[in-house]
Amino acid sequence: MSFPLYAPAEEHDMLRDTVRALADEKIAPHAAEADETEEFSWDVYKALVASDLHAVHVPEQYGGAGADALATVIVIEEVARACASSSLIPAVNKLGTVPLLLSASEDLKSRYLAPVARGEAMFSYALSEPEAGSDAAAMKTRAVADGDGYVLNGTKMWITNAGVSEYYTVMAVTDPSAGARGISAFVIEKSDEGVSFGPKEKKLGIKGSPTRQVILDNVRIPANRMIGAPGSGFKTALATLDHTRITIAAQALGIAQGALDYAIGYVKQRKQFGRPVADFQGLQFMLADMAMKLEAARQLTYHAAAKSERAMHGEPQKNLTFLSSAAKCAASDAAMEITTDAVQLLGGYGYTKDFPVERMMRDAKITQIYEGTNQIQRMVMARQLLK
Ligand code: CAA
Ligand code: FAD
Repeated sequence: MSFPLYAPAEEHDMLRDTVRALADEKIAPHAAEADETEEFSWDVYKALVASDLHAVHVPEQYGGAGADALATVIVIEEVARACASSSLIPAVNKLGTVPLLLSASEDLKSRYLAPVARGEAMFSYALSEPEAGSDAAAMKTRAVADGDGYVLNGTKMWITNAGVSEYYTVMAVTDPSAGARGISAFVIEKSDEGVSFGPKEKKLGIKGSPTRQVILDNVRIPANRMIGAPGSGFKTALATLDHTRITIAAQALGIAQGALDYAIGYVKQRKQFGRPVADFQGLQFMLADMAMKLEAARQLTYHAAAKSERAMHGEPQKNLTFLSSAAKCAASDAAMEITTDAVQLLGGYGYTKDFPVERMMRDAKITQIYEGTNQIQRMVMARQLLK
């Protein structure tokens, strides 16, 4: 009997080499500046678009590269290794558009996915609100049927790439008496009358990715902008996260790999007590633990990505919800530990902005919070175990 080996294909390895070369040359040089200035880097966006790496997951039939979920993970991982903020370009383009891929009409898909694939528009995802974060179903944003369309009112909070994205998947209540089953999903355009954005949040990390409120003030849209059936929006939102929590895991892996690689280079050249600090077993054991945690999280993430890909092709994967939460949780916890250890390995220098590891440590923290906090991931996993 012979079984196929469990391993990424040669094409995945080639893709990694390509993205790493681009990231080293065109993304890494902007990382410290984006962190310092807190500005979205259009130069990085253009470089990703020029290499067709800004939204690799968009299927070929909509003009995209048609990369599978593992290839998308590798792209995000390699961009995050250089700059965590920039990795939110491919990651959030996926987050914003998966609701369409899962549930939208052909008309909506072809209208909105093609501009994303061409690099003419980015797509954000708006679920959270000021009073509804972990308890997302408690949202208050309303969409009221009016003639042949809907009128939306409310405030979405913490929206990644708000203002730079042209399109938004917005979840809103259409039937307040139906709880989670009364939530519907819509496509909102930045140019729709009544759409505005709050000021940029001042954050600990991922400073090169704008996080802003999306404010909807009597935004009137045609009914055909609804994604899927009325009342299906919350399920679409959660089914989306089953696929995209894996991309946050990928971001965490990339940040951690960047910190580990930098720390390895540093300890080999930094001398104390007359020899490189890499000679001390105390540091060698730290490096071994960092690499071990990273590789364990990576294998879990790649496994989850393979499941995600099969699910996208219509093969139901009964443990995808568990695995995507597990991957996001394991990779983000590993990234926080690894980046903190990387700062330690550089001693006092690691604590300064003259070296990149303190930025990586600050950037890693968000991966334990967004797309559901790690407490929520543990709740999702436990529900899967106990159901
Ligand atoms: N796929 C499809 N449907 C699902 C589902 C899934 N994975 N999980 C649950 N559902 C369905 C349920 O079956 C239920 O439907 P029925 O009533 O028809 O049976 C409905 O959805 C509601 O499910 P629950 O009762 O389990 O919902 P809940 O209110 O208890 O909440 C939760 C569940 C897991 C806590 C969810 O609210 C959650 O994940 N919260 C965290 C919020 C979050 O992750 N936000 C991310 C925002 S995006 C972001 O942060 C972006 C970024 O960083 C870049
Ligand atoms: P809360 O829900 O108020 O949680 C507070 C604390 O209570 C946390 O520690 C939490 O883990 C814990 N907690 C809550 N409920 C439970 C429970 N049942 N059991 C145990 N512990 C619990 N959202 C979007 O929709 N789109 C985006 O693009 C987006 N981007 C983001 C970017 C950034 C930089 C940030 C900070 C957030 C972003 N979010 C986005 C929102 C993000 O998903 C939420 O912040 C997150 O889901 C947590 O919600 P909250 O901040 O309201 O915390």
